[in-house]
Amino acid sequence: MSRIVSTEVVSTVGDQKIIQECHRIRKDVFHLEQKFPLETEYDEVEDVAVHFLVRVTEEDPATAARRVKCVGTVRATPPGTYPGSTRYKLSRFAVEKAYRKYGLGRLLLDSLHEWVRQDAAAARRPAEVECHSQLSAIGFYAKFGYASEGSQFDEDGAPHLNMVLRLMVLRLERARESVKRD
Ligand SMILES: CC(C)(COP(=O)(O)OP(=O)(O)OC[C@H]1O[C@@H](n2cnc3c(N)ncnc32)[C@H](O)[C@@H]1OP(=O)(O)O)[C@@H](O)C(=O)NCCC(=O)NCCS
Repeated sequence: MSRIVSTEVVSTVGDQKIIQECHRIRKDVFHLEQKFPLETEYDEVEDVAVHFLVRVTEEDPATAARRVKCVGTVRATPPGTYPGSTRYKLSRFAVEKAYRKYGLGRLLLDSLHEWVRQDAAAARRPAEVECHSQLSAIGFYAKFGYASEGSQFDEDGAPHLNMVLRLMVLRLERARESVKRD
């Protein structure tokens, strides 16, 4: 059994090589494992979304041979990407089954949150994130402070719940201004 010796998260808008890896993982998890239709998997925001990909380097303890594998992905879009949307949206969160519960989802979520914080600070808007969570993933999002909002709804034939998180953003200029005033 190989062991993970290092991990790396990369993100992109538009790098097709990276996006293809994200799409492959999503096909494995949402279509082949969870049986969601492939027709609805890839949508109109693929080209404008920020795609995050986690790669692991594994080592075979017997031979010390190493190989790199892409095993998880998540996607983010800013407010306004979807008609009427006022929050950042997290979507298509998937870690390959054999790599779950190793902290890779946390790594992806931390990277996504950091991107949201920076983008929100630059655009001077709230760093508020929402996602449509499958019922089985509610506990995962809750661990990171997401709270449920509204009632259950159907998406692609499965029950979902809206989960929302407001991230803290340190606005340096404002902090400096208030120090000057005091
Ligand atoms: C949800 C998912 C992305 C989590 O990825 P992961 O790599 O297993 O998550 P991590 O190992 O980083 O888990 C972080 C923490 O959340 C917990 N956790 C993971 N999945 C959980 C779940 N489904 N419910 C409750 N807690 C969960 C872990 O135990 C860990 O807790 P700890 O820090 O106290 O040890 C992964 O299970 C997955 O791809 N599921 C299938 C696709 C899916 O349902 N995606 C969500 C669509 S809304």
